[in-house]
Amino acid sequence: MLPDSEEAVAAAVDVLRVGGLVAIPTETVYGLAADASNRRAVRRVFAVKGRPADHPLIVHLGAREQLRRWAGSVPPVAERLADAFWPGPLTLVLPRATGVLDEVTGGRPTVALRVPDQPLVLRILARFGGAIAAPSANRFGRVSPTRAGHVVADLGGDVDLVLDAGPCPVGLESTIVEVADDQLRVLRPGVLTAAEIARVAGREVHEDPGGPARAPGMLASHYAPAARVVLVRAAEAVPAVEGLLAAGRSVAVLAETLPPGLPEGTVALEPVGDATGYARHLYDRLREADRLGVDVVVAVVPAPTGAGVAVLDRLRRAAGPTAGG
Ligand code: TXA
Ligand code: MG
Repeated sequence: MLPDSEEAVAAAVDVLRVGGLVAIPTETVYGLAADASNRRAVRRVFAVKGRPADHPLIVHLGAREQLRRWAGSVPPVAERLADAFWPGPLTLVLPRATGVLDEVTGGRPTVALRVPDQPLVLRILARFGGAIAAPSANRFGRVSPTRAGHVVADLGGDVDLVLDAGPCPVGLESTIVEVADDQLRVLRPGVLTAAEIARVAGREVHEDPGGPARAPGMLASHYAPAARVVLVRAAEAVPAVEGLLAAGRSVAVLAETLPPGLPEGTVALEPVGDATGYARHLYDRLREADRLGVDVVVAVVPAPTGAGVAVLDRLRRAAGPTAGG
């Protein structure tokens, strides 16, 4: 594990050049990076994650100017979004350029592209010169890592190098927007909202992803900790906890601010403050609950606006298909 330094940049580039895997920080979550042009390296990413081959990867570019090298066509609206939001937590799905590996796109005619807003990774990309394919650096179906320690706990010795730039400031994966025939559609919500994207695009953004197959990997049950996750509104928290405790379960509560009157014996996870804090800390708190070995996490849902939309999306997936999402 290497901290942010010139040595880390050089070591990461060396590993990428020989087809190795580097766990990198991004502003959203930690990624498991491979040279996007190296078929063997990309295949190893799937092997290490235990991820099905038809779940495509996001290609991370060092600069907005590389967009045309990876996308076969770039409609003006995509240029506008890239100008406004890159580097940043926006992934654009565009027709792929010829030469983009099938291993990266899962054989799809499109490719997912973004420029991450993380200084260490931008230095690595600038020195490397190529692009890196990187999924979140967790085992398939589990909670995404927002700290280097999460990566080590999940993937350990299967990664050649783990870089540590501290906790990720955004905390949830990027907003994925498909640009097809000038139509914009959010395939995965993130802290960058559909409304902000629509404002820059000057047109409507469809928020219904149109079924799980559109962005493979957006399965109903995903981002799941070992503990069961139960979603409640603030007023329902205390009765929900009381019922679970009475049934002999150990219970942790996750909320923006702790509901008053929680029964003795409840594990209070450190409150996240607001929707942005919820996004930043959600995965760390779910991992904390697993470390503590609680049976159930009672999560008080945020208001469904701003960053709350993406938090709610991940909470529903963590809670599994029975929670209505
Ligand atoms: O914030 C992020 O996006 C993080 C950091 C590391 O950049 N990455 C990330 O990657 O979340 P991953 O692999 O965990 O999720 C990528 C998502 C998957 O749901 C995948 O199906 C979708 O992007 N995706 C990739 N290429 C696609 C394509 N051509 N069409 C539709 N969806 C695509
Ligand atoms: Mg992922």
